[in-house]
Amino acid sequence: MMLWLLFLTLPCLGGSMPVSSDPSPGMELVGIVGGHNAPPGRWPWQVSLWILLGRDNEWQFVCGGSLIHPQWVLTAAHCIPGKYPVPQHFMVQVGQVRLSNSNNVQVAIVIRHPKYNLTQKGVGGADVALLKLQAPLIPSNLVNWVTLPPPLLTVPLGTRCWVTGWGRIAVKVPLPPPHHLQEVEVPIVPDEICRQQYRPINRIIKDDMLCAGSNGRDSCQGDSGGPLVCNWRGTWLQVGVVSWGIDCGLPNYPGVYARVTSYLSWIHHYVHSST
Ligand code: ARG
Repeated sequence: MMLWLLFLTLPCLGGSMPVSSDPSPGMELVGIVGGHNAPPGRWPWQVSLWILLGRDNEWQFVCGGSLIHPQWVLTAAHCIPGKYPVPQHFMVQVGQVRLSNSNNVQVAIVIRHPKYNLTQKGVGGADVALLKLQAPLIPSNLVNWVTLPPPLLTVPLGTRCWVTGWGRIAVKVPLPPPHHLQEVEVPIVPDEICRQQYRPINRIIKDDMLCAGSNGRDSCQGDSGGPLVCNWRGTWLQVGVVSWGIDCGLPNYPGVYARVTSYLSWIHHYVHSST
């Protein structure tokens, strides 16, 4: 009953630790979708989000997220189930490429954006949330925070952008053990093109959304909340938060991300620059 309920309420969450057989030789499935193993320390802001869920009260991997400050994680609002989230039921894994829930750090405060709509999920917009960690992290080669973009940044076409996570490598195909963090370069899709692509199925691409991806290159279920970063004049800036899509890696439906520049003032209301 509880599981069935969860399925209804969290259709986008990655669910429990993925279990899968090894891909057969010659058709190796590596992903996010179309990705490959990320080298340790390349994305030191990447975190995984774990929630105490279900009747067994087990820690389950649900989403990605990013460190934007020594004590703050940015993730997607739809990664946070329930009307009144309990911070003690959340944990964050930092500084590792292999998904695991040992040595995770505790969450002290959970804040979903007030305009996020629990029933509409990501498609309704404002799909952003902040988690305050119980203590600030010490930066290292493996743990660091990502830079937020300047308010007026519009990513120029052709900028190199990447999305990372432990989500599925194709629709309904979980990332196989050892659950190594995946990375894939994705092209930014101009707003107007993305709107036209989603119009036939009556999905509205709102101003606070940004599209990225191409045939066979995309984020997927379980990558939600994770960062879309672009290298802008030598600095990695987080421009998006994995939010929603239609299946994964389809040529005519790019991945949809919460646009970080739309939420900078909300973020800065809670998170004060650390440098
Ligand atoms: N909602 C999904 C999640 O919770 C993310 C889906 C992203 N889909 C995509 N095609 N880019 O993990």
